[in-house]
Amino acid sequence: IDNGFANTSACDSAITFLDGELGILRYRGIPIEELAEKSNFLETSFLLIHGRLPAQDELEKFEREIKANYRLPQKMDRIFDVLPKATHPMAILSAVTSALSGAYADELDPANPDFVQKNIYRLMGHFPTIAASAFRSARGESVPDPRNEIDYCANFMHLMFSDRKNKDVPKEVVEALHLLLILHADHEQNCSTSTVRLVGSSAANLYSSVSAGVQALWGPLHGGANQAVMEMLEEIHRAGGNVNKAVADAKDKNSSFRLMGFGHRVYKNFDPRAAIIKKACDKVLAKLGIQDPLLDIAKRLEEAALKDSYFVEKKLYPNVDFYSGIIYSALKIPVNMFTVMFALGRLPG
Ligand code: CMC
Repeated sequence: IDNGFANTSACDSAITFLDGELGILRYRGIPIEELAEKSNFLETSFLLIHGRLPAQDELEKFEREIKANYRLPQKMDRIFDVLPKATHPMAILSAVTSALSGAYADELDPANPDFVQKNIYRLMGHFPTIAASAFRSARGESVPDPRNEIDYCANFMHLMFSDRKNKDVPKEVVEALHLLLILHADHEQNCSTSTVRLVGSSAANLYSSVSAGVQALWGPLHGGANQAVMEMLEEIHRAGGNVNKAVADAKDKNSSFRLMGFGHRVYKNFDPRAAIIKKACDKVLAKLGIQDPLLDIAKRLEEAALKDSYFVEKKLYPNVDFYSGIIYSALKIPVNMFTVMFALGRLPG
Protein backbone atom coordinates (compact mmCIF):
# COMPACT_ATOMS: atom_id res chain seq x y z
CA ILE A 1 0.00 0.00 0.00
CA ASP A 2 1.31 3.42 -0.98
CA ASN A 3 -1.02 6.05 0.42
CA GLY A 4 -1.36 9.02 -1.92
CA PHE A 5 0.77 7.29 -4.58
CA ALA A 6 3.67 9.22 -3.10
CA ASN A 7 6.10 6.52 -4.15
CA THR A 8 4.42 4.84 -7.10
CA SER A 9 4.47 5.68 -10.77
CA ALA A 10 3.10 3.65 -13.65
CA CYS A 11 5.77 4.94 -16.05
CA ASP A 12 8.41 7.58 -16.71
CA SER A 13 7.13 10.57 -18.63
CA ALA A 14 8.71 10.95 -22.07
CA ILE A 15 7.13 14.40 -22.27
CA THR A 16 8.03 16.19 -19.06
CA PHE A 17 11.17 16.12 -17.01
CA LEU A 18 11.07 17.66 -13.59
CA ASP A 19 13.34 17.84 -10.59
CA GLY A 20 11.32 18.79 -7.55
CA GLU A 21 14.35 19.53 -5.37
CA LEU A 22 16.03 21.82 -7.90
CA GLY A 23 12.82 23.34 -9.28
CA ILE A 24 13.53 22.25 -12.87
CA LEU A 25 10.72 21.71 -15.39
CA ARG A 26 11.29 20.82 -19.05
CA TYR A 27 8.89 19.82 -21.82
CA ARG A 28 10.63 17.50 -24.28
CA GLY A 29 13.97 18.73 -22.98
CA ILE A 30 13.21 22.46 -23.33
CA PRO A 31 13.20 24.53 -20.10
CA ILE A 32 9.80 25.93 -19.17
CA GLU A 33 11.36 29.41 -18.83
CA GLU A 34 12.38 29.32 -22.50
CA LEU A 35 8.96 28.17 -23.70
CA ALA A 36 7.23 30.76 -21.51
CA GLU A 37 9.33 33.49 -23.09
CA LYS A 38 9.47 32.42 -26.73
CA SER A 39 6.72 29.96 -27.58
CA ASN A 40 2.97 30.13 -27.94
CA PHE A 41 0.37 27.62 -26.78
CA LEU A 42 -0.18 25.82 -30.09
CA GLU A 43 3.55 25.52 -30.80
CA THR A 44 4.05 24.10 -27.29
CA SER A 45 1.10 21.73 -27.86
CA PHE A 46 2.76 20.45 -31.05
CA LEU A 47 5.98 19.97 -29.09
CA LEU A 48 4.24 17.90 -26.41
CA ILE A 49 2.28 15.78 -28.87
CA HIS A 50 4.99 15.18 -31.49
CA GLY A 51 8.13 15.37 -29.35
CA ARG A 52 9.81 18.22 -31.22
CA LEU A 53 9.16 21.81 -32.23
CA PRO A 54 7.36 22.19 -35.56
CA ALA A 55 8.75 23.72 -38.76
CA GLN A 56 6.75 26.78 -39.85
CA ASP A 57 4.64 24.87 -42.39
CA GLU A 58 3.93 22.11 -39.83
CA LEU A 59 2.78 24.66 -37.30
CA GLU A 60 0.54 26.32 -39.86
CA LYS A 61 -1.06 22.97 -40.76
CA PHE A 62 -1.50 22.10 -37.06
CA GLU A 63 -3.25 25.44 -36.47
CA ARG A 64 -5.41 25.08 -39.57
CA GLU A 65 -6.60 21.60 -38.57
CA ILE A 66 -7.44 22.72 -35.04
CA LYS A 67 -9.22 25.85 -36.19
CA ALA A 68 -11.27 23.75 -38.64
CA ASN A 69 -12.71 22.09 -35.52
CA TYR A 70 -13.79 25.15 -33.54
CA ARG A 71 -17.44 24.42 -34.25
CA LEU A 72 -19.06 21.59 -32.32
CA PRO A 73 -20.75 18.78 -34.25
CA GLN A 74 -24.29 19.53 -35.34
CA LYS A 75 -26.89 19.89 -32.60
CA MET A 76 -24.38 19.39 -29.81
CA ASP A 77 -24.80 22.98 -28.74
CA ARG A 78 -28.25 21.97 -27.49
CA ILE A 79 -26.68 20.00 -24.62
CA PHE A 80 -25.81 23.24 -22.89
CA ASP A 81 -29.46 24.29 -22.73
CA VAL A 82 -30.71 21.12 -21.06
CA LEU A 83 -28.15 20.84 -18.26
CA PRO A 84 -29.26 22.31 -14.92
CA LYS A 85 -28.14 25.96 -14.63
CA ALA A 86 -26.13 25.17 -11.50
CA THR A 87 -23.94 22.60 -13.30
CA HIS A 88 -20.26 23.41 -12.73
CA PRO A 89 -18.41 24.19 -15.99
CA MET A 90 -16.01 21.30 -15.25
CA ALA A 91 -18.95 18.88 -15.18
CA ILE A 92 -20.16 20.36 -18.47
CA LEU A 93 -16.70 20.07 -20.02
CA SER A 94 -16.42 16.45 -18.98
CA ALA A 95 -19.96 15.52 -20.07
CA VAL A 96 -19.70 17.17 -23.49
CA THR A 97 -16.23 15.70 -24.06
CA SER A 98 -17.61 12.24 -23.33
CA ALA A 99 -20.61 12.86 -25.61
CA LEU A 100 -18.27 13.72 -28.51
CA SER A 101 -17.59 9.98 -28.74
CA GLY A 102 -21.13 9.70 -30.12
CA ALA A 103 -20.51 12.37 -32.75
CA TYR A 104 -17.39 10.58 -34.00
CA ALA A 105 -18.55 7.04 -33.31
CA ASP A 106 -17.05 5.63 -36.52
CA GLU A 107 -13.57 6.98 -35.82
CA LEU A 108 -12.83 6.12 -32.22
CA ASP A 109 -10.40 3.19 -32.42
CA PRO A 110 -7.38 4.31 -30.34
CA ALA A 111 -5.19 1.82 -32.22
CA ASN A 112 -5.79 3.65 -35.51
CA PRO A 113 -3.21 6.48 -35.76
CA ASP A 114 -5.28 8.43 -38.33
CA PHE A 115 -8.29 8.45 -36.02
CA VAL A 116 -6.13 9.42 -33.06
CA GLN A 117 -4.68 12.34 -35.03
CA LYS A 118 -8.16 13.51 -36.09
CA ASN A 119 -9.47 13.21 -32.55
CA ILE A 120 -6.56 15.29 -31.24
CA TYR A 121 -7.42 18.09 -33.69
CA ARG A 122 -11.08 17.79 -32.78
CA LEU A 123 -10.48 17.95 -29.03
CA MET A 124 -8.05 20.86 -29.33
CA GLY A 125 -10.54 22.73 -31.53
CA HIS A 126 -13.68 21.89 -29.56
CA PHE A 127 -12.34 22.51 -26.04
CA PRO A 128 -12.35 26.35 -26.21
CA THR A 129 -15.87 26.25 -27.69
CA ILE A 130 -17.17 23.88 -25.01
CA ALA A 131 -15.52 26.00 -22.29
CA ALA A 132 -16.98 29.26 -23.61
CA SER A 133 -20.39 27.62 -24.16
CA ALA A 134 -20.40 26.40 -20.54
CA PHE A 135 -19.72 29.96 -19.41
CA ARG A 136 -22.27 31.57 -21.73
CA SER A 137 -25.05 29.03 -21.21
CA ALA A 138 -25.17 29.81 -17.48
CA ARG A 139 -26.07 33.35 -18.58
CA GLY A 140 -28.66 32.18 -21.07
CA GLU A 141 -26.42 33.13 -24.00
CA SER A 142 -24.96 31.15 -26.87
CA VAL A 143 -21.41 31.50 -28.21
CA PRO A 144 -20.78 33.73 -31.22
CA ASP A 145 -19.33 32.29 -34.44
CA PRO A 146 -15.65 31.42 -34.04
CA ARG A 147 -13.04 33.58 -35.77
CA ASN A 148 -10.55 31.48 -37.71
CA GLU A 149 -8.46 34.44 -38.85
CA ILE A 150 -7.26 35.24 -35.31
CA ASP A 151 -5.02 33.42 -32.88
CA TYR A 152 -6.29 30.41 -30.81
CA CYS A 153 -6.26 32.32 -27.50
CA ALA A 154 -7.71 35.46 -29.07
CA ASN A 155 -10.55 33.35 -30.49
CA PHE A 156 -11.19 31.86 -27.05
CA MET A 157 -11.55 35.34 -25.52
CA HIS A 158 -13.82 36.28 -28.44
CA LEU A 159 -16.01 33.20 -27.77
CA MET A 160 -16.14 34.07 -24.08
CA PHE A 161 -16.73 37.81 -24.14
CA SER A 162 -17.38 39.20 -27.58
CA ASP A 163 -20.51 41.26 -27.83
CA ARG A 164 -20.58 40.05 -31.42
CA LYS A 165 -19.11 43.27 -32.77
CA ASN A 166 -15.81 41.43 -33.33
CA LYS A 167 -13.73 43.85 -31.31
CA ASP A 168 -10.09 42.81 -31.07
CA VAL A 169 -8.84 41.36 -27.80
CA PRO A 170 -5.91 43.39 -26.30
CA LYS A 171 -2.50 41.94 -27.13
CA GLU A 172 -1.51 41.77 -23.43
CA VAL A 173 -4.55 39.63 -22.64
CA VAL A 174 -3.77 37.19 -25.44
CA GLU A 175 -0.11 36.96 -24.39
CA ALA A 176 -1.05 36.31 -20.75
CA LEU A 177 -3.41 33.55 -21.79
CA HIS A 178 -0.73 31.86 -23.91
CA LEU A 179 1.63 31.99 -20.95
CA LEU A 180 -0.86 30.47 -18.51
CA LEU A 181 -1.82 27.67 -20.88
CA ILE A 182 1.85 26.86 -21.60
CA LEU A 183 2.63 26.69 -17.87
CA HIS A 184 -0.21 24.22 -17.32
CA ALA A 185 0.34 22.15 -20.48
CA ASP A 186 1.93 19.08 -18.88
CA HIS A 187 3.25 17.90 -15.56
CA GLU A 188 4.33 14.28 -15.55
CA GLN A 189 2.20 11.63 -13.84
CA ASN A 190 -0.15 13.91 -11.89
CA CYS A 191 -3.64 12.89 -10.81
CA SER A 192 -5.51 13.86 -14.00
CA THR A 193 -2.85 12.62 -16.43
CA SER A 194 -2.66 9.33 -14.56
CA THR A 195 -6.46 9.09 -14.77
CA VAL A 196 -6.41 9.64 -18.54
CA ARG A 197 -3.75 6.93 -18.85
CA LEU A 198 -5.60 4.51 -16.57
CA VAL A 199 -8.90 4.86 -18.42
CA GLY A 200 -7.09 4.78 -21.78
CA SER A 201 -5.30 1.59 -20.80
CA SER A 202 -8.61 -0.25 -21.15
CA ALA A 203 -8.56 0.82 -24.83
CA ALA A 204 -11.38 3.27 -24.10
CA ASN A 205 -11.52 6.02 -26.73
CA LEU A 206 -9.76 9.36 -26.36
CA TYR A 207 -12.97 11.25 -25.52
CA SER A 208 -13.82 8.96 -22.57
CA SER A 209 -10.25 9.06 -21.29
CA VAL A 210 -10.00 12.84 -21.47
CA SER A 211 -13.48 13.23 -19.99
CA ALA A 212 -12.33 11.19 -16.96
CA GLY A 213 -9.16 13.29 -16.72
CA VAL A 214 -11.29 16.45 -16.57
CA GLN A 215 -13.18 15.00 -13.59
CA ALA A 216 -9.89 14.18 -11.83
CA LEU A 217 -8.61 17.69 -12.45
CA TRP A 218 -11.70 19.21 -10.86
CA GLY A 219 -10.70 18.40 -7.25
CA PRO A 220 -9.54 21.25 -4.97
CA LEU A 221 -6.22 19.56 -4.21
CA HIS A 222 -5.40 19.40 -7.95
CA GLY A 223 -6.80 21.68 -10.70
CA GLY A 224 -9.47 23.10 -8.41
CA ALA A 225 -6.77 24.74 -6.27
CA ASN A 226 -6.80 27.92 -8.39
CA GLN A 227 -10.50 28.45 -7.61
CA ALA A 228 -9.85 27.60 -3.95
CA VAL A 229 -7.01 30.18 -3.81
CA MET A 230 -9.24 33.00 -5.00
CA GLU A 231 -12.01 32.04 -2.60
CA MET A 232 -9.46 31.99 0.23
CA LEU A 233 -8.02 35.42 -0.73
CA GLU A 234 -11.51 36.87 -0.99
CA GLU A 235 -12.39 35.46 2.43
CA ILE A 236 -9.24 36.98 3.98
CA HIS A 237 -10.07 40.30 2.29
CA ARG A 238 -13.67 40.23 3.59
CA ALA A 239 -12.45 39.46 7.11
CA GLY A 240 -10.20 42.54 7.14
CA GLY A 241 -7.04 41.31 5.39
CA ASN A 242 -5.31 39.64 8.36
CA VAL A 243 -2.85 37.26 6.67
CA ASN A 244 -1.23 36.18 9.95
CA LYS A 245 -4.54 34.70 11.09
CA ALA A 246 -4.75 32.68 7.87
CA VAL A 247 -1.21 31.38 8.45
CA ALA A 248 -2.09 30.49 12.07
CA ASP A 249 -5.28 28.69 10.95
CA ALA A 250 -3.36 26.70 8.34
CA LYS A 251 -0.98 25.46 11.04
CA ASP A 252 -3.74 24.54 13.46
CA LYS A 253 -4.06 20.76 13.42
CA ASN A 254 -7.60 21.02 14.82
CA SER A 255 -8.64 22.88 11.72
CA SER A 256 -8.90 21.41 8.23
CA PHE A 257 -7.92 24.76 6.69
CA ARG A 258 -4.85 24.72 4.46
CA LEU A 259 -3.21 27.59 2.65
CA MET A 260 -4.52 26.97 -0.84
CA GLY A 261 -1.84 27.45 -3.49
CA PHE A 262 0.89 26.35 -1.08
CA GLY A 263 2.76 23.06 -1.18
CA HIS A 264 3.27 20.60 -3.96
CA ARG A 265 3.65 16.85 -4.24
CA VAL A 266 7.04 17.16 -5.93
CA TYR A 267 8.35 20.74 -5.75
CA LYS A 268 9.93 21.01 -2.34
CA ASN A 269 12.02 24.20 -2.82
CA PHE A 270 10.15 26.25 -5.36
CA ASP A 271 7.74 25.73 -8.23
CA PRO A 272 9.43 27.16 -11.36
CA ARG A 273 6.00 27.93 -12.85
CA ALA A 274 5.10 30.04 -9.80
CA ALA A 275 8.21 32.18 -10.30
CA ILE A 276 7.27 32.87 -13.96
CA ILE A 277 3.65 33.55 -13.12
CA LYS A 278 4.42 35.94 -10.27
CA LYS A 279 6.45 38.12 -12.64
CA ALA A 280 3.77 37.92 -15.33
CA CYS A 281 1.10 38.85 -12.81
CA ASP A 282 2.73 42.19 -12.00
CA LYS A 283 3.25 42.90 -15.70
CA VAL A 284 -0.29 42.03 -16.79
CA LEU A 285 -1.96 44.01 -13.99
CA ALA A 286 0.27 47.02 -14.72
CA LYS A 287 -0.44 46.85 -18.47
CA LEU A 288 -4.18 46.51 -17.94
CA GLY A 289 -4.09 49.23 -15.29
CA ILE A 290 -5.71 47.00 -12.68
CA GLN A 291 -5.17 47.44 -8.95
CA ASP A 292 -6.34 44.29 -7.26
CA PRO A 293 -6.45 44.28 -3.45
CA LEU A 294 -6.28 40.47 -3.61
CA LEU A 295 -2.82 40.73 -5.19
CA ASP A 296 -1.67 42.72 -2.19
CA ILE A 297 -3.12 40.10 0.16
CA ALA A 298 -1.48 37.32 -1.89
CA LYS A 299 1.91 39.02 -1.62
CA ARG A 300 1.58 39.62 2.12
CA LEU A 301 0.37 36.07 2.68
CA GLU A 302 3.31 34.66 0.74
CA GLU A 303 5.72 36.81 2.74
CA ALA A 304 4.18 35.77 6.08
CA ALA A 305 4.15 32.06 5.20
CA LEU A 306 7.70 32.02 3.85
CA LYS A 307 8.94 33.47 7.16
CA ASP A 308 6.99 30.96 9.23
CA SER A 309 8.93 27.96 10.58
CA TYR A 310 6.00 25.54 9.94
CA PHE A 311 5.99 26.37 6.22
CA VAL A 312 9.80 26.49 6.04
CA GLU A 313 10.29 23.12 7.76
CA LYS A 314 7.61 21.39 5.69
CA LYS A 315 9.00 23.02 2.53
CA LEU A 316 5.65 24.54 1.57
CA TYR A 317 6.05 27.19 -1.15
CA PRO A 318 3.57 28.92 -3.46
CA ASN A 319 2.68 26.70 -6.42
CA VAL A 320 1.61 27.63 -9.95
CA ASP A 321 -1.95 28.25 -8.85
CA PHE A 322 -1.21 30.78 -6.17
CA TYR A 323 -0.97 33.61 -8.71
CA SER A 324 -2.80 32.20 -11.75
CA GLY A 325 -6.23 33.11 -10.37
CA ILE A 326 -5.26 36.75 -10.01
CA ILE A 327 -4.30 36.89 -13.69
CA TYR A 328 -7.48 35.08 -14.72
CA SER A 329 -9.50 37.59 -12.72
CA ALA A 330 -7.68 40.43 -14.48
CA LEU A 331 -8.71 38.80 -17.77
CA LYS A 332 -12.33 38.87 -16.43
CA ILE A 333 -12.57 35.10 -16.32
CA PRO A 334 -14.92 34.14 -13.45
CA VAL A 335 -13.67 32.02 -10.57
CA ASN A 336 -15.74 28.94 -11.45
CA MET A 337 -14.03 28.87 -14.87
CA PHE A 338 -10.47 28.76 -13.50
CA THR A 339 -10.23 24.98 -13.45
CA VAL A 340 -11.62 24.88 -16.99
CA MET A 341 -8.71 27.13 -17.98
CA PHE A 342 -6.35 24.62 -16.39
CA ALA A 343 -8.03 21.85 -18.42
CA LEU A 344 -7.65 23.87 -21.63
CA GLY A 345 -3.94 24.16 -20.91
CA ARG A 346 -3.45 20.55 -19.77
CA LEU A 347 -5.25 19.00 -22.76
CA PRO A 348 -2.25 18.64 -25.11
CA GLY A 349 -0.20 17.04 -22.30
N1 CMC B 1 -1.24 24.46 4.19
C1 CMC B 1 -0.95 23.99 5.42
N2 CMC B 1 -0.33 22.82 5.67
C2 CMC B 1 0.01 22.09 4.60
C3 CMC B 1 -0.25 22.50 3.29
C4 CMC B 1 -0.91 23.75 3.10
N3 CMC B 1 -1.18 24.18 1.86
N4 CMC B 1 0.20 21.56 2.41
C5 CMC B 1 0.74 20.60 3.17
N5 CMC B 1 0.62 20.90 4.47
C6 CMC B 1 1.12 20.10 5.61
C7 CMC B 1 0.24 18.91 5.86
O1 CMC B 1 -0.79 19.19 6.78
C8 CMC B 1 1.23 17.90 6.38
O2 CMC B 1 1.49 18.18 7.71
P1 CMC B 1 1.87 16.98 8.75
O3 CMC B 1 3.14 16.38 8.20
O4 CMC B 1 2.05 17.70 10.05
O5 CMC B 1 0.71 16.06 8.71
C9 CMC B 1 2.50 18.19 5.58
O6 CMC B 1 2.40 19.59 5.21
C10 CMC B 1 2.64 17.37 4.33
O7 CMC B 1 1.40 17.43 3.65
P2 CMC B 1 0.95 16.41 2.53
O8 CMC B 1 -0.47 16.62 2.17
O9 CMC B 1 1.37 15.04 2.94
O10 CMC B 1 1.91 16.93 1.39
P3 CMC B 1 1.90 16.48 -0.02
O11 CMC B 1 3.20 16.94 -0.58
O12 CMC B 1 1.54 15.09 -0.16
O13 CMC B 1 0.66 17.35 -0.62
C11 CMC B 1 -0.59 19.05 -1.69
C12 CMC B 1 0.73 18.25 -1.61
C13 CMC B 1 -0.53 19.91 -2.96
C14 CMC B 1 -1.80 18.12 -1.81
C15 CMC B 1 -0.72 19.91 -0.42
O14 CMC B 1 0.43 20.69 -0.26
C16 CMC B 1 -1.97 20.79 -0.42
O15 CMC B 1 -3.03 20.33 -0.04
N6 CMC B 1 -1.84 22.09 -0.87
C17 CMC B 1 -2.97 22.97 -0.99
C18 CMC B 1 -3.73 22.67 -2.26
C19 CMC B 1 -3.00 23.14 -3.51
O16 CMC B 1 -2.51 24.26 -3.58
N7 CMC B 1 -2.97 22.27 -4.55
C20 CMC B 1 -2.38 22.65 -5.84
C21 CMC B 1 -1.24 21.78 -6.24
S1 CMC B 1 -0.38 22.48 -7.67
C22 CMC B 1 -1.49 22.30 -8.95
C23 CMC B 1 -1.50 20.92 -9.51
O17 CMC B 1 -0.48 20.51 -10.11
O18 CMC B 1 -2.52 20.25 -9.41
